[in-house]
Amino acid sequence: MSAQTIGAALRAATDQIRAGGVDSPRLTAEVLLAHVLGLGRAQLLARLEQPLAGPDAASYWALVARAAADTPLAYLTGRREFFGLEFDVDESVLVPRPETELLVEVALEGLATGPAHVIDVGTGSGIIGVTLAVKRQAIRVTAIDRSAVALAIARRNAERHGVDERMRFLEQDLLDPSPPPADLICANLPYIPSADVATLAVSRHEPKLALDGGPDGLDLIRRLIAQAGTVLTPVGRLVLEIEARQGPAVSALCRDAFPRAAVRVLRDFADLDRVVVLDRGV
Ligand SMILES: C[S@@+](CC[C@H](N)C(=O)[O-])C[C@H]1O[C@@H](n2cnc3c(N)ncnc32)[C@H](O)[C@@H]1O
Repeated sequence: MSAQTIGAALRAATDQIRAGGVDSPRLTAEVLLAHVLGLGRAQLLARLEQPLAGPDAASYWALVARAAADTPLAYLTGRREFFGLEFDVDESVLVPRPETELLVEVALEGLATGPAHVIDVGTGSGIIGVTLAVKRQAIRVTAIDRSAVALAIARRNAERHGVDERMRFLEQDLLDPSPPPADLICANLPYIPSADVATLAVSRHEPKLALDGGPDGLDLIRRLIAQAGTVLTPVGRLVLEIEARQGPAVSALCRDAFPRAAVRVLRDFADLDRVVVLDRGV
């Protein structure tokens, strides 16, 4: 029997992925095959009549089966773009979300070009800390996570982008033990209420440690705000990603802990509350 062509494989894979109820099945089929063959998508589409056989075919159909079971594409290719940079990801870390780019923008806006110490709490794949270190060459970044495997990925991403010498990686619970004073603390912590976690599609593949924020979703954010007082410098900034319904509650927590600070809630591109910014020194 002659081998299936790339074009025929793409059509069959698209059908299989669509049957799994996954969005953009054709695009997913193309991205996966381009990944297996080490090609760009345009190069792949120029080879539709060529055969797909042997180990490449076996690898491809294994990935297609996982895609049809709704495994995030980033886990299948091992990569995700964030803020124009490419990051390694796997099942031990949250898949970076475009919403988190807002947090990075606000963090950058608060960082001049000079030296500063930044803490990224709940670093996961390291996207926040690594991106800040790439964009601000004079800063040092402390990346914290409770997950040793996540920290290993974050370190790999720091090496990949040439910023590892300005970063350190700490496996610990939030800011305990207390790190040196920071000009900026950023955190995209788990913020989904426990009861919602099981009902969400993300919980089928992404780590519970990255999602579950306790009964009201605010366990970790509440503890971090309480700890931040002793770590944030007198003119420091705290930037927190939140779930859309948490703006009023998180602002109130910030105002209680830092009565003299300026606190703002920012909306994302879907017009949902997404980031709380606290400026201590105003
Ligand atoms: C929502 S994920 C965010 C990952 C990454 N910062 C991003 O934006 O894609 C939250 C991260 O917080 C970490 N985490 C959960 N509880 C923690 C704790 N008590 N202390 C430190 N990190 C924690 C998880 O392991 C996970 O990597």
